[in-house]
Amino acid sequence: MIRGKKVNLVAAGPEYVEFYKKWINDPVVVDMLGVRNYPISAEREREWAERQLEPTDDRRQFTILTKRGRPIGNCGFNVIDYQNRFAVLGIMIGERELWDKGYGTDALEALVRFGFETLGLHKVCLTVDSVNARALACYKKCGFVVEAVLREHRFHRGKYCDELWMGILEDEWRARARSAPRAR
Ligand SMILES: CC(C)(COP(=O)(O)OP(=O)(O)OC[C@H]1O[C@@H](n2cnc3c(N)ncnc32)[C@H](O)[C@@H]1OP(=O)(O)O)[C@@H](O)C(=O)NCCC(=O)NCCS
Repeated sequence: MIRGKKVNLVAAGPEYVEFYKKWINDPVVVDMLGVRNYPISAEREREWAERQLEPTDDRRQFTILTKRGRPIGNCGFNVIDYQNRFAVLGIMIGERELWDKGYGTDALEALVRFGFETLGLHKVCLTVDSVNARALACYKKCGFVVEAVLREHRFHRGKYCDELWMGILEDEWRARARSAPRAR
């Protein structure tokens, strides 16, 4: 288990399938994720969850639990490149009444710390639609900076928008961690 201040991250798995199914089929939750093939059945979500149990070096998926143990979303590294020592992360807080309460930021901080301290990464990256203001605010709070703009790369609600590639380097993360030490 990876411990944050407000959440813990536990391995994704079939015991959370009913939650995954609910979150991935909520059009508001997935609006910015580019999920095109919903509704997604419980069976397909179970297959996804079972695949996460297979040992693999190039991805790591977690379920986000509140400190009281309530499942509220998923996050993880969808790609881990050990040769170049970077990973690409994704996150979704599926219980949307809990948005804007700091859970996403805390989950990301815990995930990024795991990436640098445990996996020995040099860089953590992500992509986000330019219209996803909430996610952008959350990523900036965690120290991610925009590295590249893919112009009109995404089709969202009938219009093209840019996709932003963001990243944080290990040195930048360590400097932030030194200036705001984590309460343990
Ligand atoms: C994006 C997401 C992970 C963020 O998690 P969260 O728990 O809501 O985020 P936090 O509460 O930690 O931070 C959100 C910040 O965005 C700010 N925010 C919300 N709406 C905003 C807007 N329209 N413009 C600017 N900032 C906004 C909030 O005020 C908050 O900042 P603050 O703490 O300084 O006040 C979550 O909302 C989510 O899962 N959304 C749907 C899926 C998604 O978009 N995933 C990311 C794909 S790249």
